[in-house]
Amino acid sequence: MSHDHHDRVVFITGAGSGIGRATALRLAGEGASIVVADIDPDGADATVAAIADAGGDAMAVSCDVRRRDSIAKARDTGLARFGSITSLVNNAGVVTMENLDELSEESWDRVLDINLKGPWLVAQEFTATLAATDRPAVVNLGTIEGEVVVSSGGTCQVHYNASKGGVKMLTKALAIEMGRKGIRVNAVAPGPIATDFVSLEGVTSDEAWEYLGTRLVIPRVGRPEDVAAAISFLLSDDASWITGIHLLVDGGWLTR
Ligand SMILES: NC(=O)c1ccc[n+]([C@@H]2O[C@H](COP(=O)([O-])OP(=O)(O)OC[C@H]3O[C@@H](n4cnc5c(N)ncnc54)[C@H](O)[C@@H]3O)[C@@H](O)[C@H]2O)c1
Repeated sequence: MSHDHHDRVVFITGAGSGIGRATALRLAGEGASIVVADIDPDGADATVAAIADAGGDAMAVSCDVRRRDSIAKARDTGLARFGSITSLVNNAGVVTMENLDELSEESWDRVLDINLKGPWLVAQEFTATLAATDRPAVVNLGTIEGEVVVSSGGTCQVHYNASKGGVKMLTKALAIEMGRKGIRVNAVAPGPIATDFVSLEGVTSDEAWEYLGTRLVIPRVGRPEDVAAAISFLLSDDASWITGIHLLVDGGWLTR
C-alpha cells in the first residue's frame, strides 16, 4: 500500500541514515518534497543523492536538534526552497551502551538532549510553520524501550529508556497543544531495526538472534522500510482521525 504525499513538504531530522533515510526515500517516492536535516552533512548529501537518483525532490540542510538557532536556520532554508513545510518527522536519536555504574553525566545529557529535548525544541520551532498549512502532521520516533526495558548486550540503558519514555508522553502532550492549531502528532515505536544505530551484528548475528528470536512473533529483524511505511501512514490523510498514539512497529515484541 502506498500513500499520496504529492502536495507535502516533509522535514525529517536525522535523515542522513537508517530509518530517517528510508522514510525520506519512501515519502519522496510517494510524491513529497523532502528537507533532509542532519548533523552529518555527508549522510544528508547521500540521502539527497539517493532521492534524486530515484527521480525525487530533496535538499540537505545542516541541523543539530539540540540547538534552537540551528533548527530555525534549517527550517528557514527549507522554507526558502519549497515555500512551505507541511509535515515533520522527529527522527534524530542516539544511544550509548552503558550500565548504571558506568553511565556518565555527559552521556545522560547527550542522549536526553538529542532524543527528548530535541523533538520538543523542533516541534516548538515548527508549530507556526506547520499551522500555516493544510492537514499538517508530526511523527516522533519512540521505541518499544519507551514501554519496556530491553537489556541489549546484557545492560539496560537507563538514559535511553528515560528519553524514549519521555517521547511517548511528549507526543500525547503535543497532540493536545499542537492539536489546537490543527496539527496531528503521533509516534512510532520500533522494535529492533537493522541500521547504524547499534552494530549490525547486534541485531543480525546468531548470538543476537538467540535473544531476539525468543521475543519476536514475526521471525525476522525489522527493516528501516517497515518503520518508514508506518510513518507514511501516520502522515497521510488515511490517518486524519488519529492523533496522540504510540504505534508499535515491533514484529510482535510486546505481545509476549
Ligand atoms: N535502530 C533501531 O533498532 C531503533 C529502534 C527503535 C527506535 N529507534 C529510533 O529511530 C531513530 C533513528 O534511528 P536509526 O536506527 O535510524 O539510527 P541511525 O544512527 O542510523 O541514524 C540517526 C541519525 O541521527 C543523526 N543525528 C544524531 N545526532 C543528531 C543531532 N544532534 N541533530 C541532528 N541529527 C542527529 C545522525 O547523524 C544519523 O544520521 C532514533 O530516534 C532511534 O532512537 C531505532
